This record gives sequence, structure tokens and C-alpha cells, in this order.
Amino acid sequence: MSKYNVTLVFEDGRSENILADENDTLYMACLRNKIRILTDCLEGACATCKGLCVEGEYDLDDVSEEALSEEEAAQREVLTCQMHVRSDCVIELPYESRLAMKSEPQSWACKVVAVESVSSTVQRLDVEIVDLEGEAPGFMPGQYVHLSVPETDEKRSYSFANPPHETDIYSFFIKVLEQGAMSDYVRDRAQTGDQITMTGPFGHFYLRNPERPILMVAGGTGLAPMLSMLDHMVESGATSRPVHLLVGANDPEELFHLDVIEAYKTKGVSLTTEIAVVEGNDGWQGETGHVTALLRDELIADGVDIYLCGPPPMIEAAESWLADKGIDDKLVHAEKFLPS
Ligand SMILES: Cc1cc2nc3c(=O)[nH]c(=O)nc-3n(C[C@H](O)[C@H](O)[C@H](O)COP(=O)(O)OP(=O)(O)OC[C@H]3O[C@@H](n4cnc5c(N)ncnc54)[C@H](O)[C@@H]3O)c2cc1C
Ligand code: FES
Repeated sequence: MSKYNVTLVFEDGRSENILADENDTLYMACLRNKIRILTDCLEGACATCKGLCVEGEYDLDDVSEEALSEEEAAQREVLTCQMHVRSDCVIELPYESRLAMKSEPQSWACKVVAVESVSSTVQRLDVEIVDLEGEAPGFMPGQYVHLSVPETDEKRSYSFANPPHETDIYSFFIKVLEQGAMSDYVRDRAQTGDQITMTGPFGHFYLRNPERPILMVAGGTGLAPMLSMLDHMVESGATSRPVHLLVGANDPEELFHLDVIEAYKTKGVSLTTEIAVVEGNDGWQGETGHVTALLRDELIADGVDIYLCGPPPMIEAAESWLADKGIDDKLVHAEKFLPS
């Protein structure tokens, strides 16, 4: 009797991890974890419990063709009332988490253990969980949390820059705006020992099992989740697929962690990179212009999984270029750093 980790991702981006016994249907495994997947017949006939298994192995008991067509099954849609997981799985459910869960997303009391300027506009904020009772946040590389802004009632979204297996310190890269609740905090007041609450995890932007080459486009602090993904690939040995990373910033002084990116090449990742800044300086010998200007046909020629993260105009430009090229939007995963 084996148990597997199952991550459920709801339409609103909230994700929950459960341990599922393979003898249970997924519906039953969720129920044991106080998650009530929407159901009706519980017999594989109505399709109310339908989800999409993004990753992992599973078997289905009896399902009717009306509830799950052959085509849907081939695309890994599943009836969770008839599903038994056979490995760790990630399952997306097409409705909001509040319909399946009464509890609020989990929160952890944390304290700041480091705050460090890494470029002209970016600060790294490291936090650790205070007196962890129960489980550390189980997140997928690419996901984000809400961080409270100390001494205010505000909270802001930030992507994990550390990989999921590192649970001692959680790292975030924060773009410091001229004026803003979190920007003011990290620039003017942040000190080690400050209390911060971390709530989550959230997000549909996470690393899928690498089955194709990967193209990543990171604008500014949009590099943070890419670092989490690359570290995860190294840790899990999922390095057989080449990764091409495009990094963009407003000017050379804003760039950060270029040495860390270089170091992945010595850790088994087949990584190539290109960097563009909107405005160069006297010493800048690289590309100038928006990072999306680096997109070209050869980068998508062989069928790639595409990860886009950064400011909304960058994502929109990249998505529109990819749509013009006829790229299937199932292959495109994007996180827009929208203002709160
Ligand atoms: C899912 C998600 C993940 C995110 N992850 C990260 C991350 O890893 N790193 C990171 O740096 N940010 C990230 N962001 C953005 C972050 O949540 C905040 O919006 C940002 O840090 C500004 O917060 P603030 O409190 O300093 O400014 P606020 O107090 O929220 O805003 C102050 C003013 O600045 C404007 N403003 C906000 N953002 C910008 C901007 N980018 N450019 C110009 N003006 C702006 C606002 O409209 C407002 O007028 C993420 C956003 C989302 C939705
Ligand atoms: S609840 Fe009806 S098919 Fe699963």
C-alpha cells in the first residue's frame, strides 16, 4: 500500500498538498484531508469531479464515455471519483478553492534573517519560519506567497526564489519602487528579526515535468521563480532538457545573480542565456532593447515549454509574439507581476 504526494491546484491559484493512499480514490483521499472535491454521482457518470492531471501516473476505474471521452482521457483529464494515483501527481481543478475547502490558506509566522541589496533596484529578503509546528509550505518551483508588510495591514505577492527542498530559509527578490508599501519597508526599515507572515502557496505558474526543451523569459525580478525552477532541476536531476534563458532589465545596474545563473552550467543544466537591457551604459557590450526583442523563430523551432515571468507589458508582448507564431497556449506558462 503506497502513499503519494498529490498537489491540487484550484482555479484561483491556491494549491494544497495531500498524501494520498493509492487504494483510495482521489476524491476519498481528499476527503480524508478535509478537501471536498465537487462531486455528484461518485460513479464516473456525471463529470462533476473532473480535473486535469498535469503530472504523474494514475489509473481510472469505471468511467462512462459521456463523462470522460477518449479524447479527454488522452489529454489527461480525469474523473477524480474514479482515480487512483500511482505516483506523486499534480492535479488542476477548474473551480475556486473556497468551493472545496472551508479553511483559509495556511500562514506561517516568519522572521527576517537577511535583507541585502543585490542590484540598483533589487533587494533579497530572506525569512525563516519561527517555531515550525506541522508542515513547512509545500510549494512547486515557480509558485508564490503573500508576505505581510511589517507595521502595516498590507500584504504583497512574491515568488519563491529558493527551491522547494530548501525549507530552512525562504528567499524573495523584491524590486524596490520609488514609493510603495513593501518597497519602502525593504529600502528604509527592514531589519533582521522583523516579523513577517507568509501565506500560501499560490499559483498556476510552476515547473512542469521537463519533457521538451525549455525557454524562459525573465523580466527584472521575474528571474526569482526561474532560479527556484533551475535549482529544482539540479536537485531532482531533471537536467536532460536544454534550457534557454532570456534575462531583461532596464539597465545593467539592475541585473542581479548573473554569477548564480552561470553556475548552473557547472551543475549539470544544459543552460544557455542571453541578456538585454533597455538602456546600456558606457561599459555595456550586450544587447540593448526589451528582452522580448530577443525572441526569434529558432528558439521555438523544436517545440518548447515556455515560462514567462515579469512585468505585465513584457508578458503581453511575449504572449502576443508566441500567438502570432501559432504556439499552442498550453505550452505557455506565465506569471504577471501585477500591482496589488
Ligand atoms: C503573483 C505575483 C508574484 C509576484 N512576485 C514578485 C516578485 O517575486 N518580486 C517582485 O519584485 N515583485 C513581485 N510581484 C509584485 C509585488 O507583489 C508588488 O506588486 C510590488 O513589489 C510592489 O509592491 P509595493 O508594496 O512596493 O508597491 P505598492 O504599494 O503595491 O504600489 C505603489 C505604487 O506603485 C505602483 N506599482 C506597483 N508595481 C509597480 C511596478 N512594477 N512598476 C511601476 N509601478 C508599480 C502601484 O500601482 C502604486 O501606485 C508579484 C506580483 C504578483 C501578482
Ligand atoms: S462524481 Fe460523477 S463522475 Fe465523479
